[in-house]
Amino acid sequence: MAQERKSIFGEHLRRHALSYGFGFALLFISCYLQLYIPELIGRFTDRLEHSLLTREEAWRYGIGILTVGAGVAFFRSISRIYLFRLARRLEMRLRNELFAHWETMSARFYDERRVGDLMAYSISDVGVIRETTMGALFNAMEAVVLIVIAVVTLSATVDPWLTLWTMLPLPLLSLLAYRFQRRMQAQSNDIQDAIARMTSRVQEFVAGVRVVKAFAREESERERFGADNRAAAETNLALVRTQSSFSALGSIVVGASVFVSVVVGGWMTLRGMLSLGDFAALNTTLSLLVGPVENLGKVVHQIQRGVASQRRLLELFRTPPDIADDERTDMSVVDIEGDIEIRNLTFCYPGQARPALRDVSLRVPKGATLGVVGRVGAGKTTLVHLLVRLYDPPEGTIFLDGRDIRTIPLAVLRDRIGVVTQETFLFSSTVRDNIAFNPHPTTEDQVKEAAEIADVYKDVRTFSDGFDTEVGERGISLSGGQRQRLGIARAVIKRPSVYLLDDCLSAVDAVTEERILHRLRAATRGRTTIIVAHRVSAVRHADLIAVLEDGRIVETGTHESLLRLNGRYAEMVRMQAPDAEGTLVEEGVSG
Ligand SMILES: Nc1ncnc2c1ncn2[C@@H]1O[C@H](COP(=O)(O)OP(=O)(O)O)[C@@H](O)[C@H]1O
Ligand SMILES: [Mg+2]
Repeated sequence: MAQERKSIFGEHLRRHALSYGFGFALLFISCYLQLYIPELIGRFTDRLEHSLLTREEAWRYGIGILTVGAGVAFFRSISRIYLFRLARRLEMRLRNELFAHWETMSARFYDERRVGDLMAYSISDVGVIRETTMGALFNAMEAVVLIVIAVVTLSATVDPWLTLWTMLPLPLLSLLAYRFQRRMQAQSNDIQDAIARMTSRVQEFVAGVRVVKAFAREESERERFGADNRAAAETNLALVRTQSSFSALGSIVVGASVFVSVVVGGWMTLRGMLSLGDFAALNTTLSLLVGPVENLGKVVHQIQRGVASQRRLLELFRTPPDIADDERTDMSVVDIEGDIEIRNLTFCYPGQARPALRDVSLRVPKGATLGVVGRVGAGKTTLVHLLVRLYDPPEGTIFLDGRDIRTIPLAVLRDRIGVVTQETFLFSSTVRDNIAFNPHPTTEDQVKEAAEIADVYKDVRTFSDGFDTEVGERGISLSGGQRQRLGIARAVIKRPSVYLLDDCLSAVDAVTEERILHRLRAATRGRTTIIVAHRVSAVRHADLIAVLEDGRIVETGTHESLLRLNGRYAEMVRMQAPDAEGTLVEEGVSG
């Protein structure tokens, strides 16, 4: 759907053509009424000049002008509200579409982009589109209609040449507005950048307050903040200067217009070529046009911004999801048994020259447990990523139940595999929501049971609101071990066919590790499990252990056979043995 999209504005206008027609009709009425006021004043002046005006008639004119003014206000605000609501609808729809589009994007997409840029897309660009559809459209329409009606009526009722001459300086006002609007926009962007920098400095300071204090960096932090603060203040002043120059220059242009109307119009009135009422009508009309003419210049700039934002958004919408179900997907697959086979898997992250995995071949039959150990950067996490297709493995390298993993529907794959990621990301929500983080309904007992298996239930019981305690950015902060155990509970509650545990016990002590592993063994019995571990103790009971080094498997076997082999694995065991000299030497194998 989104791929073929050519224009966001065009699509929106077409979709709501009737509503826009109605909104503009109301606006047209308001413009027409607005220009009726000068005419009334003109007639009033003529009657006054010829001393024909009775007291009663004067009242009638007064009330008439008041009524027309009220009509203008009424129709103008109704059409504004009506049109602005349409723009708000577009904004809402775009934001939702953008978010849905982001959800289809793979991890690779996010590797290549910065959070700030994505925020800019969702907040600024969509906002600019909304401003363009509401502000620019309304202002452009109002200005054009007012100017056209004014020129036509003045030419007909007053004098075409005089009208032309008085209007002559006005395009200059539009031009000025356009040029200055551009500069003012650039300056207010600078101000926002400076404010954003200050905000992130404060944020960083609060997050890193202990480091700042421990390293006595208060003064330099204060200086950096001061510099940003100064920059913001200076840009603010520059903006005020620009605004003042604009209003000064604008007044000169308007003054020129008034000058023509007074000198030429006054002269023509004296010569009897123009009635006093016409003269009054001309000047009133002129004053009514100043605002809209100025807006016209701003509109051009606004449309330029809108077009640029539209281009960025369309580009984003056109980026197809690189990992998605396609014509090779076998939709008849609804479950996974858990038989894993990896054949000669070599994988390179996009844009990287060195493969993260080289020629990896492994077989994990249904229900078996594979342990994977290796140094930081050996490729353990990469293997986990590929098994759930966070990145796509090359075709014909990973098979589940004898099927190429790339032919299994993504929803089934990810539903039936339970991953515990190396770092547990906690969402700003309750403990319960963070555990039951899957699309299926869960009962209280299931949450509790999962928490017990992950050995985090005893911790939850000490939280003020138990499972209802808020965690994540807005809630209580948890220790690394508690986070990891919540991550395990999150996987366990799914009762998946395959467990992928990526170094999820690194932050718990050896005794807790043993307890969790014991409970997990019971919970995962009959289910395929891959344990990536930091400590060899975690993989000791695995049916098969693979030692990964620099993307290659260098040893495979059981705990006993690998000890007998007396190679890399045996060396790790010796280094990590609790009775080895000194404390645990873990640097070499962590991560
Ligand atoms: N998203 C990524 N993009 C590019 N390279 C990556 C990415 N993730 C990991 N790598 C690289 O791949 C290699 C293996 O990393 P990883 O699988 O995380 O190792 P491990 O989990 O064993 O510590 C490392 O050299 C790492 O720098
Ligand atoms: Mg890792």
